[in-house]
Amino acid sequence: MLIRAGEPVAVPTETVYGLAADATDSNAVAAIYSAKGRPSFNPLIVHVADRAMAERLADFSPVASVLADRFWPGPLTLVLPVRSDSGLSPLVTAGLPTVALRLPAHPAMRALIRESGCPLAAPSANRSGSISPTCAEHVLASLGGKIRMILDEGPTSEGLESTIAAPAEDRVRLLRPGPVTTAMLEEATGLPVIVTDDGKIEAPGQLESHYAPSKPVRLNALRAEKDEYLIGFGLMPCHINLSQEADMREAAAHLFAALHFADASAATRIAVAPIPPDGIGAAINDRLRRAAA
Ligand code: TXA
Ligand code: MG
Repeated sequence: MLIRAGEPVAVPTETVYGLAADATDSNAVAAIYSAKGRPSFNPLIVHVADRAMAERLADFSPVASVLADRFWPGPLTLVLPVRSDSGLSPLVTAGLPTVALRLPAHPAMRALIRESGCPLAAPSANRSGSISPTCAEHVLASLGGKIRMILDEGPTSEGLESTIAAPAEDRVRLLRPGPVTTAMLEEATGLPVIVTDDGKIEAPGQLESHYAPSKPVRLNALRAEKDEYLIGFGLMPCHINLSQEADMREAAAHLFAALHFADASAATRIAVAPIPPDGIGAAINDRLRRAAA
């Protein structure tokens, strides 16, 4: 099997397609970095099959346990102190004292981890800095020729990368907004959720140009100007609609595919309708701001 041979495999999760490899094998992890053209200072998310595997890799505080009980399996990544006997490749953590862990819900990813028998490092399966893939065609367009296998299970259900949170005793730091919203984290822990934006690259999802299409992007557009491809929301004339019913989860699931369409269209510029900021709208607007940066 490719994973055991140290080769990265593209695999769907409920958020986006990932490029997975053995997180304990530095050569395998290096192969992810090189396929993606990713700067090596960016640490990777480690995916586990169950809680026991997670607890062999990192220390779970009481708050971390509450979050894992509540949201795993699912689109929440927890940044936790890495154990000295974790066996993880130092390339995965990029030298940090913490590791980002996620127990995904998608059966294909879970089966791959179980079959491999090891934790899998998996960033999104696209060239570094470009739009994340929500279907196998996106992976092929971005990484074709650089990887040997894509497990095609159709489009992903969430459509946005996982929420990344670093739990402390008295608060939860939100490093990347995602499908698990601030309100959900607050409700589960009873603690304040602090959005950290201290300028340093703690989660490179924070790099301003991280989700950039190749064309200029204009936000909060109510109509298409000349040469623009308009991504709409709710009832409005547009080239593609994230959700005619103005359903936020549907909009999240369609966002990256719409950006891929717009990027591949004949139009020279992209415009996007205003998206309400509530709930998962925070994560949608976060990705849009970066796409426009
Ligand atoms: O939904 C997802 O999370 C997808 C799917 C494939 O699971 N994966 C994903 O991975 O988005 P990636 O590598 O594109 O994003 C990893 C994020 C980066 O922003 C990285 O900086 C952050 O996780 N990260 C990893 N380890 C970290 C650590 N120890 N401390 C803080 N942030 C960390
Ligand atoms: Mg990514």
